[in-house]
Amino acid sequence: MKKRVFSGIQPTGNIHIGNYLAAIKYWVASQAEFDSIFCIVDLHAITLPQEPNVLKSKIREVAGLLFAAGIDPKLSKVFVQSHIGAHAELTWILNCFTPIGWMQRMTQFKQKLQEQQEQVSVGLFDYPALMAADILLYDTDLVPVGEDQKQHVELTRDVAQRFNSIYGETFKLPEPLIPETGSRIMGLDDPTKKMSKSEASSGHAINLLDSPEAIRAKIMRATTDSLREVRFDENRPGIYNLLVIYELFTGLSRPDIEARFEGKGYADFKQELAEVIIDNLRPLQSRYREFTADPTYIDSLLAEGASRARPLAEKTLAIVKNKVGLG
Ligand code: TYM
Repeated sequence: MKKRVFSGIQPTGNIHIGNYLAAIKYWVASQAEFDSIFCIVDLHAITLPQEPNVLKSKIREVAGLLFAAGIDPKLSKVFVQSHIGAHAELTWILNCFTPIGWMQRMTQFKQKLQEQQEQVSVGLFDYPALMAADILLYDTDLVPVGEDQKQHVELTRDVAQRFNSIYGETFKLPEPLIPETGSRIMGLDDPTKKMSKSEASSGHAINLLDSPEAIRAKIMRATTDSLREVRFDENRPGIYNLLVIYELFTGLSRPDIEARFEGKGYADFKQELAEVIIDNLRPLQSRYREFTADPTYIDSLLAEGASRARPLAEKTLAIVKNKVGLG
């Protein structure tokens, strides 16, 4: 039996190289080894205000990017969260087993609460319970994510354990799978802040669909420091972040990279980094154009993905409802 992998991505903002290097790249690389399910989490997206037409088109864009990056719709199940009603239904049941105090400790929620007090909805507060439902519906073994999602996967385990202790063995306990390098790619304009899809500043992130000109401009403008030695030093967050991106795209070792730029300055390094990113994204971008030439094709792949995932989700939900005494 292959281990089950489940992960998700929000169809909001622009998918960037942080999403790619920490998550999507691993989803692609491991899909033959694992039984993989990938979810475009539109119900999570509406925990913050969204423009309806933009959300609809982003769902297709993210799907197109996943397929273009190499997710094989025959090997992996790729679907849209709202297409399988069991996600919302299990969330409600889990809500009733999740102490408020656990949710109040979630750092992502606390940050968002600070940033936009009045706008914060009950849905945003409940975001981790929906994520727990996503994961637990599919008897998931492994959840490949970036570092920022670790706490949510840990909460999922806690909720599952609590439910299991009341009703007996029901949910499998999932493990987060977080890459050693690149699990937290930082913003180019501010290397003390995580690269984020929702950040509006144009120099913040390299998006997977950025043109070569945009990539060159963003990398050349990326914040570094006043030193000039190109070296992996975590105390110099700007150049360190760029070096990690270079390392992940080239697969070269750190000593090899440092030797390559020995005696050269940041400008030389940045120029080469920009070309490395452009070369790596080029095939993905051209496959994206092929996949999206006919929008009904993406829709049909997503419908097929949902029809393969739905029976798994419904089976778990039926077991849970029965245990709780519903219906
Ligand atoms: P989302 O859409 O914010 O991000 C998708 C994936 O990209 C990772 N990531 C990053 N990794 C490294 N550096 C960064 N700067 C960076 N920014 C984002 C995220 O960790 C994630 O792996 N809540 C999730 C989606 C979700 C989910 C799930 C994930 C919903 N249900 C169930 C796993 C399992 C989210 O908002 O990801």
